[in-house]
Amino acid sequence: MKNVSRRDFVKTGTMATFGLGALSESALANGLADKIVKIGVIGTGNRGTSHVNTLLTIEGVEIVAVCDLEKGKAENAAAICEKKGKKRPKIYCNDEHTYKEMLDKEKLDAVIIATYWDSHSAIALYAMNNGTYPGIEVPAALTVEDTWRLVDTSEKTGIPCMMLENWSFRQDNLAVLNMKRLGMFGEIVHCHCAHSHDCIDHWFFDNKTGEQKWPAKYLLNYNRDQYPTHSVGPVISWMDINRGDIFTEIYSTASASKGINAYMKRKFGNDHPNANLKYKQGDIVTSVLKTKMGKTLVINYDMQLPRPYSNRWLLEGTMGVYDEEKSSIYLEGTSPEYHIWEPWKPYEQKNNHKWWQADYSAQSHGGTDYVMLRQFTDAVKAKGSTPIDVYDSAVMTAIVELSGISIEKNAPVAFPDFTKGKWKTNLPYFAMDKP
Ligand SMILES: NC(=O)c1ccc[n+]([C@@H]2O[C@H](COP(=O)([O-])OP(=O)(O)OC[C@H]3O[C@@H](n4cnc5c(N)ncnc54)[C@H](O)[C@@H]3O)[C@@H](O)[C@H]2O)c1
Repeated sequence: MKNVSRRDFVKTGTMATFGLGALSESALANGLADKIVKIGVIGTGNRGTSHVNTLLTIEGVEIVAVCDLEKGKAENAAAICEKKGKKRPKIYCNDEHTYKEMLDKEKLDAVIIATYWDSHSAIALYAMNNGTYPGIEVPAALTVEDTWRLVDTSEKTGIPCMMLENWSFRQDNLAVLNMKRLGMFGEIVHCHCAHSHDCIDHWFFDNKTGEQKWPAKYLLNYNRDQYPTHSVGPVISWMDINRGDIFTEIYSTASASKGINAYMKRKFGNDHPNANLKYKQGDIVTSVLKTKMGKTLVINYDMQLPRPYSNRWLLEGTMGVYDEEKSSIYLEGTSPEYHIWEPWKPYEQKNNHKWWQADYSAQSHGGTDYVMLRQFTDAVKAKGSTPIDVYDSAVMTAIVELSGISIEKNAPVAFPDFTKGKWKTNLPYFAMDKP
């Protein structure tokens, strides 16, 4: 089946064959099979190590250097490479600025940045100024000012800058995107998404001692959507944000903060030093975003109450609705029974995106990380644009600070236009063939 380019997509106005083809590789990567991408990984903790393991499964990728504050972690990553029969990467380990030495000395094509949040943007800026593609873990920055720096530097240097938002690459989310582009939901009017993931007992705090880990300080000092990118990642393409539409404002509100203290007392007792601290971060943050074209989006931050994982993705258009949590869909005129849900899975299979032609489920996050890093490294190989661009990375990232400002003011806050007006003419691009 023929794949349709972005230009064909707009020209024909019909989406009958879009993105459903059987081609297995990105068009740009074709002919680049022999090319080696030289990669460095900065931050080889949990996520960085997971990326090392995934990168080792991608042909044509060589991890030439690794960097961490802790020598043991960098050595562990190097040992993983050696065990897989690859050359041992060079280790950089001294202080929080040693990444600069690595980026100066090694001629890296790309760098994966999986450090603490407060160093992401500075490392990415340094990489771009060195001619190296940054693949930045989420979020790409902590302030709107730093987010603008990423946009400006990418434009100035011509080096694409991608935030590694893996949930944009999920098989279900890409199938929804295919269907949206086929017009199956009609005009999109509203979406909802959440990051409902109890991370108090393993990510923010040590689950044996209750001690604070590095992200805990953000819960003490800020009240905002700390982690919006996993929920909003796939949604911005469903809503054509930066590509024909744009967020104009965000209005956020937060519940009281009860979950962290309750967890600490339950697990470690009333006298634990972290059990009676005052955490600024409310348990549930609800943000309402409006777009120029009249769409609305609700995002929930929900990471500190006991609950099973959920993203609660919902998309509603003039012809139907997709509900991820129900794993259901209803399409007006197509669903067999009037206003009765249908199961989602058959639609996912029928509208499978070409990035998911094989079973990657043995890889981390059910294969999503492989699909993302494969597309990222293909782009680096081709010296082309990354599958997620700097503008989409910026939109997802800016929600962190903007939601905090809105909560503080108890008022809506204007959303910046990182495209500087180009959203009006920009064509859809995510998960589409290049023209
Ligand atoms: N996309 C996902 O699914 C996902 C999952 C988990 C974490 N993350 C993101 O990955 C990042 C890392 O999280 P983690 O859970 O792996 O944390 P972690 O604490 O396990 O690892 C972070 C590592 O970065 C190192 N580091 C910090 N600053 C550094 C610097 N300046 N130079 C070199 N090394 C430095 C630390 O020593 C540590 O080993 C965070 O941004 C987090 O939000 C993403």
